[in-house]
Amino acid sequence: MVLPIMPDLQQILIARLQTAVAAAFGDAYAKVDPLVRLSAQAQFGDYQANLAMSLSKQVNAKPRDVAGKIVEALSLHGDDDIFAKIEIAGPGFINLHLTDAFLSQQLNAMASDAEGRLGVPKASPPLTVVVDYSSPNVAKEMHVGHLRSTIIGDSIARVLEYQGHKVIRQNHLGDWGTQFGMLIEHLIEKGLKDAELGDLTSLYQEAKRRFDAEPDFSRRARKRVVSLQGGDEETLSVWRRLVEASATYFQRVYNRLGVLLEPTDIRGESFYNDRLAPVMESLQKAGLLSESEGATVVTPPGFMGKDGEPLPMIVRKSDGGFLYATTDLAGGTFRVKELGASRVIYVTGAPQAQHFAMVFAVLKMMGVGEGVKFEHVPFGSVLGPDGKVFKTREGNTVRLEDLIQEAEERAAKVIAEKNPDLPAEERTKIAHAVGIGALKYADLSSDRIKDYIFDWDRMLAFDGNTAPYIQNAFVRVHGIFRKGNVDPASLGDKTIVIAEPAEHALALKLLQLPSVIESVAQSLEPHRMCTYLYETAAAYHKFFETCPVLTAPNDATRWSRLRLSAVTAATFKLGLGLLGIETIERM
Ligand code: ARG
Repeated sequence: MVLPIMPDLQQILIARLQTAVAAAFGDAYAKVDPLVRLSAQAQFGDYQANLAMSLSKQVNAKPRDVAGKIVEALSLHGDDDIFAKIEIAGPGFINLHLTDAFLSQQLNAMASDAEGRLGVPKASPPLTVVVDYSSPNVAKEMHVGHLRSTIIGDSIARVLEYQGHKVIRQNHLGDWGTQFGMLIEHLIEKGLKDAELGDLTSLYQEAKRRFDAEPDFSRRARKRVVSLQGGDEETLSVWRRLVEASATYFQRVYNRLGVLLEPTDIRGESFYNDRLAPVMESLQKAGLLSESEGATVVTPPGFMGKDGEPLPMIVRKSDGGFLYATTDLAGGTFRVKELGASRVIYVTGAPQAQHFAMVFAVLKMMGVGEGVKFEHVPFGSVLGPDGKVFKTREGNTVRLEDLIQEAEERAAKVIAEKNPDLPAEERTKIAHAVGIGALKYADLSSDRIKDYIFDWDRMLAFDGNTAPYIQNAFVRVHGIFRKGNVDPASLGDKTIVIAEPAEHALALKLLQLPSVIESVAQSLEPHRMCTYLYETAAAYHKFFETCPVLTAPNDATRWSRLRLSAVTAATFKLGLGLLGIETIERM
């Protein structure tokens, strides 16, 4: 029998079941979804097929009888090479136990993948995908929400890129708007317009304090906005310096975080300034504009305000100023028409969900992007241990650089305790990987839509669903290679033979990699990768405890287990890499 080269177990099992269903009930049923799922517990087999219950109504028979017929057909087709045992349980669940031989074969194919992709297929055809993420604001406070967007967006971009899509990263910097008035005015009045600018946080706070406390200042700040929009040269030059200074600051943060954004990915709001009038024109032509209390609005159907009335989206204020929404209409148009995107992804906090839903609806009404998929990827807030929005002890917004610094320092402490003999230089390198890894993983590992509690001790723990736990499993594998003097790259001709239950369980996890990557790409939920890596690391520890590697009973087993370990390490490296997290060989 010829098996697919790419080891996607789920696909193989679906095909087998569909053939069996067709044999048992006729070709009309050849396309039913056999509802193949991983079993929650080994006693229920490796996989379950749960179709008998729903099929029973269609074929007018009892679920258990339906299951019996399917199982009979499965066996009749000589599938013993795949199934070690097939059982019917409960109302009609079909429990599928796979053979060690089948898993071995699939795993060897995965290990020998000529392109080193561990069986992960390339998207065909590849799409052009825009991922809009990070997108902080120049003259507003940068908050941990931007950290979430940065980390989640980066992982999504990496996953899609790995699949072979053409990913265009867009950092939609908030580099335009009324907030600049007070900052520019403050800088000019304090004679600071040529001074070295830092991360702007404290400047912002000062300017804001004055804006709130000094009516005269706030009046001058408002006038400054008018000068900015009117193109006044002095004002514009201070604006440019502010944008440059903060772009430099953001880039420093991205580099330290190992986030793949580059200066060339910045296409801030100001970029769209001269594209706003054309947007208004096409809205006008499409007959979508109306007036509401002096403002110009679009009212896409299906959106209600709190009062139950249709909810308008303002695209031009009564004073003529354009809004965030107008820019997003211009941005969406640009991304489809000029960047050629067929999937456009926006990673921002959940409070913007309605904004994006309306923008997408209006874009469709404008006829932008037939067949283009616009997606908002919302996420919850970062909370402090007290369950309130995460702040410093003094109650200020947390500066990202301080956060990074603290992550590295805490990780260094943890590493020093674990392994006091490490040379300082190596410790710094490891602490960087572990600290940043922990920070990112904590953000990525929970369902993104939920809020999560920022907790240093938990994220840096070596137990549990954390980055250090998985990085440590990788270290364990490399420990074996070092101890046995084995070069993992030299294992290419060794055959994996699955024989023990712990090997079986590990193999099953490893073979899920392609479908996990695909599910992250579709759902845009990186936590699925985290859960997968966590379970795989747990399966590896189990294997390590029950199956001696270097002291295996014979040579063939030793090589098999070494290669199995190498595939596991490669899986961690790839999986963590797609989360933007580094692996280290010792810690
Ligand atoms: N700058 C915005 C904020 O801080 C996020 C921008 C997201 N992207 C977009 N195209 N609107 O909330």
